[in-house]
Amino acid sequence: MKRRPIIAGNWKMYKTKDEAIAFIYAVNLSVPDKEDVESVICAPAIFLRDLVKREGENLRIGAQNMHFADEGAYTGEISAPMLKSYGVEYVVLGHSERRTHYHETDEFVNLKVIAALNNDLTPIICVGESLETREAGTTDAFVAEQVKKAYQNMDAEEALKTVIAYEPIWAIGTGRTATPAQANDAIIAIRGVMADLYGRDVADQIRILYGGSVNVKNVDNLVAMSDIDGALVGGASLDAEHFLTLVKAALVKTRT
Ligand code: 13P
Repeated sequence: MKRRPIIAGNWKMYKTKDEAIAFIYAVNLSVPDKEDVESVICAPAIFLRDLVKREGENLRIGAQNMHFADEGAYTGEISAPMLKSYGVEYVVLGHSERRTHYHETDEFVNLKVIAALNNDLTPIICVGESLETREAGTTDAFVAEQVKKAYQNMDAEEALKTVIAYEPIWAIGTGRTATPAQANDAIIAIRGVMADLYGRDVADQIRILYGGSVNVKNVDNLVAMSDIDGALVGGASLDAEHFLTLVKAALVKTRT
């Protein structure tokens, strides 16, 4: 099963406006053809308009969060229709930093995924276990629960429009990457959950990324794995040269 790889940078709360724009100009002409690799930068909301305006043919822009309501009295929040109206195409949902610091629940994540799909945005749904859960040997069960809750009230056609990112919390920003085998095994288990929910065909088609201390040194071994369809990258995506190396590494998926 051929699945087009995705390399998505998650800038988190980094860069100023000028730095963000300079990055886009630095990578625009060098990212691979979008038919081969989806290259995405998920930037702080305040930069989205400036970045979408400057994105080249092969670069796409995503947000890092949004509200689940289309509009309403939610001071400080941003809705899916707002993102869509600015030409944003992806949105990271349920990142562990949002679950931890802002108490985002699986129920909220589910509502956000549905809102993203209703507004034609591609949700990148983050799941992943804590170190405690991994050491207790209950990773697969924990992640399966997160996945099932994220996909409540969604049919197969909708599920196929989503992307999952497996991001073990212990690997995020720690320099401690999951081994390619650990990441691949967890992703195979997630595909199993999708097969239970939607059938093997959907499970084989849906893109599932790995995230957690991915860098230019370890990316090749990660994307070489059978079930890893690319990466969601924090720190290493802030540097234009590194980002280009990461997106080019994913070409191995297209060529094999
Ligand atoms: P790092 O690549 O900095 O570990 O961050 C991973 C992440 O959280 C991407 O969403």
